Amino acid sequence: MPKMDRRRITMSDVNMFDQASGLRRMTQLSSTKVITVTGGKGGVGKTHVTLCTAISMARQGKRVMVFDADLGLANVDVLLGLRAGKNLSHVLAGECELKDIIVRGPFGVMIVPAASGTQSMVELSPSQHAGLIRAFGELEEEIDVLLVDTAAGISDMVLSFARAAQDVLVVVCDEPTSITDAYALIKLLSREYDVPRFKIVANMVRSYREGRELFAKLTRVTERFLNANLELVACIPLDDKVRQSVKRQKVVVEAFPRSPAALALNSLANKILSWPLPTNPGGHLEFFVERLLVKPNEHLGEQVGE
Ligand SMILES: Nc1ncnc2c1ncn2[C@@H]1O[C@H](COP(=O)(O)OP(=O)(O)O)[C@@H](O)[C@H]1O
Ligand SMILES: [Mg+2]
Repeated sequence: MPKMDRRRITMSDVNMFDQASGLRRMTQLSSTKVITVTGGKGGVGKTHVTLCTAISMARQGKRVMVFDADLGLANVDVLLGLRAGKNLSHVLAGECELKDIIVRGPFGVMIVPAASGTQSMVELSPSQHAGLIRAFGELEEEIDVLLVDTAAGISDMVLSFARAAQDVLVVVCDEPTSITDAYALIKLLSREYDVPRFKIVANMVRSYREGRELFAKLTRVTERFLNANLELVACIPLDDKVRQSVKRQKVVVEAFPRSPAALALNSLANKILSWPLPTNPGGHLEFFVERLLVKPNEHLGEQVGE
């Protein structure tokens, strides 16, 4: 089969997505890996895993963006000692550009504070919808990896981010509520949103063995009842250095790079970097934004039509 030229832009593309042309240009030059970090339950370490892997990749020279879709608790402010002034809602309202709301973290990690946690991305008005595409289009920065940190719970917002991403990291810890929440999330995403595979991060485990057992508990139910593929990608130890680094308003990979948790998070970051880039044509960040804006029922229609 002849190789498809994925860099080719047709005129109809340009006309159809005029406002996205900048985005198209950007994604033509490089592919962006989009990873959504989720888990269902709060307090399992989603934000910590997101920021640590982001910082670890950025330290290696990768251009990393974190989309902070977990605004409720002002995580980024607390964890990195950064102040986010405006957020995505100001961009969508046309008050400023995406670049104006980006907060720079360690090693140049770009953090985008998302819009209000209560507003679902699929509920954006047409003008906000165009605004989001335009916002990414105007961004001149090239991005290697976009990590999306999601809020607790199984809201529409969480589901859309998970479905739009190339890979979904599910953070779990060894607590019954974490396992049942992760199961519920995986069930919904695999059954209703056609997400086929999940990368599991066992967090706050006392040993590698405990991590494997935790994974086994989860797969025992998913294998029986769901058609989803689960892979254990990291076992991150429960490490007091995490708490100590929070006090310094740093994350553990920065404050204690040789601690057990930091080593595990660094190796997770390397693993993510080794995952193949998406193969869908037309640029991946753009694809992500477009997928983000599709309502679940539209998505079902989309499948039938294909
Ligand atoms: N591996 C770990 N060892 C020790 N504490 C951890 C670890 N991972 C996360 N934590 C701590 O657990 C708490 C919840 O983490 P957070 O990332 O905010 O969870 P979530 O985003 O899922 O709500 C934070 O205080 C964080 O520092
Ligand atoms: Mg969080």
